[in-house]
Amino acid sequence: MSQHDVQKAVNILAIETSCDETSVAIVRNGREVLVNLVSSQIETHRQYGGVVPEVASRKHVEVISEILAEAFAQAGVRLSELDAIAVTHGPGLSGSLLIGMVAAKTLAMVTGKPLIGVHHIAGHIYANQIEHEIVYPALALVVSGGHTELVLLAEEGRFQRIGQTRDDAAGEAFDKIARALGLPYPGGPHIDRLAQQATAPIRFPRAWLEPDSYDFSFSGLKSAVLAAINQAKMKQQTLADADVAGGFQESVVEVLVEKAVRAVRQYGARQLLLAGGVAANHGLRSALKARCEQERIPLLIPSFAYCTDNAAMIAAAAFVKWKKQQFHPLDLKAEALLSLEAW
Ligand code: KG4
Ligand code: ZN
Repeated sequence: MSQHDVQKAVNILAIETSCDETSVAIVRNGREVLVNLVSSQIETHRQYGGVVPEVASRKHVEVISEILAEAFAQAGVRLSELDAIAVTHGPGLSGSLLIGMVAAKTLAMVTGKPLIGVHHIAGHIYANQIEHEIVYPALALVVSGGHTELVLLAEEGRFQRIGQTRDDAAGEAFDKIARALGLPYPGGPHIDRLAQQATAPIRFPRAWLEPDSYDFSFSGLKSAVLAAINQAKMKQQTLADADVAGGFQESVVEVLVEKAVRAVRQYGARQLLLAGGVAANHGLRSALKARCEQERIPLLIPSFAYCTDNAAMIAAAAFVKWKKQQFHPLDLKAEALLSLEAW
């Protein structure tokens, strides 16, 4: 790389279509977000109570060209001013990933600029780099609709999963409990809102698993909450939804916070990074902030807009690869089960 290349601003266009959000961003030097457009399909999927994969990919096809055009217009950037095209190539819904991949490859082909495939979770983690400076080794707590993981970053761009969910992801558990309470999809934000109104949160079990394990499990908690709701119904009693939501959220949050803090200590991490859609949860954010302050652990949390699926985070992670000139050939495949270690 010449001195000129090192100093020149690097414009990365990123595309994210791994689930039910179509997003395009243009980000300069990995952190200056020129534009970050997100088109959500939530209204479409709500009537089915969850994401329908076939519908998701069709919706991506319908909007991707328009969002790309809008992103260039809003950022005031020309195609020729891009330095690389980044795209989420996994994990996610195959049909949805494919739409973003085709768009990204087309742009890479037309511009002759390199293609950079990004792991969706690497994107969630590097969302923290947009507004903060990550210091290594760092420990990331990833909590999204599809993933609940503790990830060690020994250095920039190197990921090692030290724990993960054995059943439901945290966000998935939030969505299922919300559904049982008759709340619309996705239920996480509704549980969050209700939990803030709890006056006597119900005490539900905590799934600590084996003493030294960094794994998570939320299916037992989910069963306990559903059983409590059903028992109350049978006895013709009413449980306050806010107290159910509050108790459920407290159980999830306590386990997440404890395990994350213990992992930071054991691995000598210099920062704790929060990542994923559930990072938007007020209960989790405040419990983590309080605990990290007490323990003097520097905690990074992305702004709300960068917590849920968005393409700016994909561009931020792609910049890590760009610095190492790690590019992908145009026959890069979408991988529904892509591993983070091999991102
Ligand atoms: O990261 P994300 O946007 O998509 C995936 O990659 O999965 O996460 C979506 C998940 C959903 O399960 C949603 O209910 C949850 O994040 N979520 C929340 C909140 N906002 C979004 N869960 C709890 N509290 C919230 N405020
Ligand atoms: Zn996500």
